[in-house]
Amino acid sequence: MRLEKKSPCKVNLILNILGRRPDGFHELETVMQPVNICDEMTFERAGTSLQLTCSHPELPTDAKNLVHRAATAFLAAAKISDGVKIHLKKNLPLAGGIGGGSANAAVTFSALNELFGSPLPLGKLHELAAALGSDVPFFLYDKPALATGRGEKIQTLEDFSALKGKAFFLVHPGFGISTPWSYQNLARFPEALNGQAGRAQKLVSLLQAGDLTAASAEIYNSLEAPAFDKFPVLELYKEFLRENGALMAHMSGSGSTTFAIAENLDDADALAEKFKSQFGDRSWTATVAI
Ligand code: C5P
Repeated sequence: MRLEKKSPCKVNLILNILGRRPDGFHELETVMQPVNICDEMTFERAGTSLQLTCSHPELPTDAKNLVHRAATAFLAAAKISDGVKIHLKKNLPLAGGIGGGSANAAVTFSALNELFGSPLPLGKLHELAAALGSDVPFFLYDKPALATGRGEKIQTLEDFSALKGKAFFLVHPGFGISTPWSYQNLARFPEALNGQAGRAQKLVSLLQAGDLTAASAEIYNSLEAPAFDKFPVLELYKEFLRENGALMAHMSGSGSTTFAIAENLDDADALAEKFKSQFGDRSWTATVAI
């Protein structure tokens, strides 16, 4: 049997950091929205060991790769010693703040569980996912979610009525931002480091009530502070998109991807064209219906 799976990405509609924890991680509240722009993965039972191949030459295929680590953790937890062959076709940018690698890991857990007849319950997959990275558990659920803790505590939500019929435009500038770097440099921005709890829940209520105008005013990302300080072009992108028809625009996660919300897919495509005529077409861009 050979499984073919899409591995999507996400944007953070809000990322509100609530301070540094004694364990070095940061307490946060975030609203994560799945985005249907995907890497492609295949899984099959073959050979006698774990074999990972990847279309992207810069990605390692050994234990440094999250997919490899997810597969190893799954096989150990399920006490399976059979061989597995995995291929990752990378379409999404690396280090983009849209969770591409985290999704690859989550899809690996779900797909291997399916391939071997569901030996592990969802709760166990969640535990293994959280051990790999703060954003990984979110991708096990395929739904918008309010995430808390260091991002691994997931409360899934129904699709937001405020986003019905809308579309995303995403742009990755061609350079990535390291997540540890972002969090370390947040220390220089005390206001962004110590956000007030409750903002994410307020945003959820407005999105559920269908009020995108009011919701847009609440969309916020603490990690823009260090990112915009080092890469002012990202702030320029955001301003340009807002001035050229986006209903809102923000950086996602620890960056460097900026996302904009448009009224519909045609408007998102028009925004993409305007963006490219202003900044050139060498960045990675994508539009997709929500
Ligand atoms: O959990 P993940 O592997 O994505 O985290 C990468 C790094 O980002 C952590 O090692 C930590 O430096 C930082 N981080 C953090 N607080 C979070 C999530 C990540 O400080 N809530």
